[in-house]
Amino acid sequence: MRFFRAVPRVLTAQAADAGGLADLYWRAWEGCERHLDPRLVDEMMARLEEVEAWLRGGFEIYRVREEGRILAAVRCAFPASACVVDRLAVDPASRGQGLGRLLLEHALSRARRAGCSRVWSQVSPKLAAAGALYRRLGFREVAEAPLHRWGEPIRLLELRL
Ligand SMILES: CC(C)(COP(=O)(O)OP(=O)(O)OC[C@H]1O[C@@H](n2cnc3c(N)ncnc32)[C@H](O)[C@@H]1OP(=O)(O)O)[C@@H](O)C(=O)NCCC(=O)NCCS
Repeated sequence: MRFFRAVPRVLTAQAADAGGLADLYWRAWEGCERHLDPRLVDEMMARLEEVEAWLRGGFEIYRVREEGRILAAVRCAFPASACVVDRLAVDPASRGQGLGRLLLEHALSRARRAGCSRVWSQVSPKLAAAGALYRRLGFREVAEAPLHRWGEPIRLLELRL
């Protein structure tokens, strides 16, 4: 445990957070096209209109904010009896302090409360930090899609609750 301050509060994002979330996704993925397919990076850098659409319905987004700046976020959707977790991102300046874990654990608690029997996610094998975080919280690889539309292989991950 590496928190030196009080554990940050994780709150549900509201419509007014859309701009801050779009900024976070831009900071989190900026420059990643140096080692990832630019189509993947482009999709992860969600635009304002896209984030606004998520917030209008269908998704729940959780975020940590400090002094008006969103430092980390994660998105959840609930198809069938599963929870799909994606769009996990931490501001590069705030990584390695437990925020990614905090948000993923929050998403898992939400999935348990919703009665989900499993949580799914996906990650590029090139994203070592993300892969390690998911494994640490108990996710297992259930499939690999070698020719994903982003031009990158993608690992499908599952956690049974
Ligand atoms: C992946 C990401 C969310 C991790 O956020 P973070 O706040 O830095 O992670 P945490 O500090 O909570 O670390 C939690 C665990 O993740 C793993 N981890 C985090 N950074 C790591 C790194 N650089 N290398 C290896 N493992 C790492 C460790 O297992 C760590 O647990 P430990 O500290 O108990 O060993 C962050 O790097 C990020 O936003 N990356 C870009 C976007 C991305 O990859 N999103 C996920 C797409 S599926």
